[in-house]
Amino acid sequence: MDVRTLIKKEVREQEGYRADIMPYRIRMDANESPFSLPPLIKRKLFKEMKNVFLNRYPEPGAPLIRKRFAEHYGVADNMIMIGNGSDELIQILCAALVNSSSVVLVPVPTFVMYRIIASNSGHRVAAVPLNASFDLDLDAMLNRIAKDAPVLTFLSYPNSPTSNCFSEKSVAAIVEASTGIVVVDEAYGSFAGKTLLPLLTKYDNLVILKTLSKVGLAAMRIGFLIGAPPLVHELDKVRLPYNINALSQVAAGFYLDHIDIFSGQTRDIIEGREKLLFALGKIAGVHPYPTDANFIFFSCDFDTDNIYSVLAQEGILIKNLNSPGVLKNCMRVTVGNREENQEFLKVLKKILLK
Ligand SMILES: Cc1ncc(COP(=O)(O)O)c(C=O)c1O
Repeated sequence: MDVRTLIKKEVREQEGYRADIMPYRIRMDANESPFSLPPLIKRKLFKEMKNVFLNRYPEPGAPLIRKRFAEHYGVADNMIMIGNGSDELIQILCAALVNSSSVVLVPVPTFVMYRIIASNSGHRVAAVPLNASFDLDLDAMLNRIAKDAPVLTFLSYPNSPTSNCFSEKSVAAIVEASTGIVVVDEAYGSFAGKTLLPLLTKYDNLVILKTLSKVGLAAMRIGFLIGAPPLVHELDKVRLPYNINALSQVAAGFYLDHIDIFSGQTRDIIEGREKLLFALGKIAGVHPYPTDANFIFFSCDFDTDNIYSVLAQEGILIKNLNSPGVLKNCMRVTVGNREENQEFLKVLKKILLK
């Protein structure tokens, strides 16, 4: 018996998410924070974690954390749900909104998990190319909404991998025109210094996603979904009861207790980003794009497959996006700490001078 035939076609036909697993000394490919916690602060966190009863299930739904983050984001408790990373929240949305003919709309290029999770969940994915400046092609998006009535539309704000925030007017027009849910994913929002959270008061079909993964706690897997209470109420039935483990709940509270430290790290990343952007722009044949995120998207006049493999041989991991079309010879580099940024620039220049 070929057991693969038991697996649904949508799953068999896709490759799954591929994170590069190879030895490295500098990791600038996954958009994580380059900063660990100061040792004393880390010890404080571990001390708090020591009090957790590992023999007991965690609090289902993490009510305390939910309440604290609701206050943090300035929304009511019943507007927020916590996920095992925002990936899980994307999965919950896709699972709750699927039907026999449902379409999920994404602009491309964007975060690949939208497509993977949507098709695994049984949706048909409609992809609309971004325009030449990587903003939303509003007419094309509106046409697609009129034609397919997508149950879900995912907009990454700022967008990965292109690093820009879409025009707010276009996002609002898409929310207005949609009969389905529009998800504005603000995974990188802290680096943009802007948010579309205020639009929630106007639109019941808008959902905002946030995460602690990009601001220093990627290992703890903590994401947030914020939306209209009746929607959150229904989505919460799809969430597994114990999705946020007890140690992650401690870490989430710790984040708010020490927000000054995390915000300081975010400011340092933004400062480092501007320097890295400037330095990349000075390299002949390298064309970085303006960025609102903790990474820089750039195109090259050279073969990026070669750049990627030489960087990897030198122990530096960045993302090679090279594929036919708009991503031809494009790469994405996560902002590292000062030494990492300098080392990356040094090795990149060495490769390009050869
Ligand atoms: C746009 C976007 N959304 C969501 C995620 C996933 O975040 P989390 O770690 O919270 O699952 C990522 C991770 O790279 C991302 O780029």
